[in-house]
Amino acid sequence: MNISQTVLIPEDFDCEALSKASLVSHFRLYAGYVEKYQELTRKLQAHRRLGPAAASFDAESLKTDITFALGAIKNHALFFENLKRRGEAADEPAGDLAAALVKSFHSVPQYLIDLKQTAQRGRGWAWTAYDLDNDFLFNYEASGQNGIPVWNSIPILAIDLFGHAYFYDYGNNRLAYIEAIMQSLDWRRIAARLADAIAIRNIRASLAVDSTVETHP
Ligand SMILES: [Fe+2]
Repeated sequence: MNISQTVLIPEDFDCEALSKASLVSHFRLYAGYVEKYQELTRKLQAHRRLGPAAASFDAESLKTDITFALGAIKNHALFFENLKRRGEAADEPAGDLAAALVKSFHSVPQYLIDLKQTAQRGRGWAWTAYDLDNDFLFNYEASGQNGIPVWNSIPILAIDLFGHAYFYDYGNNRLAYIEAIMQSLDWRRIAARLADAIAIRNIRASLAVDSTVETHP
């Protein structure tokens, strides 16, 4: 991901679950997060140039704000990149992804139920993330762009739950939006993300990094 690019999502992006007008509005918001991140980065660089005199500079809020902007960029990139383009055939979790979902959620249908319920509860984002420490998938939710679930987890799926994501096309029917997004997920891309995450876990294992902790119940 190259954050220096002003717009990371192609303008011709189109999917079944969201109207073109909604996408244009959403991409404009996304571009705003990119601009905000760049602005905050410039301010932090200026702060560093102050050296010892920087104590009076409000770096603490900048550090918080930058996690919000950068989180928004990464969350949206994951969200849009995992949606099937209009006309692409429907698919479902298969192969190693399906096996990992069965291991963590007992079955693929149970995973999908858990994901939908997690999204219904979430106020900002729902993610499926792979825990590098425990070889485990889990569905998380958070209210903010910077509500990162836990360290050493790699998100492989994100669902935007903010009003701006669904109100344009679905009004107050957030459940219809969640179901439409879940129907539009590109499971091949999600499987590729999981494969990348597992490869990182394997590299860590080859380096004898042992940070195993208790898994979720
Ligand atoms: Fe969004």
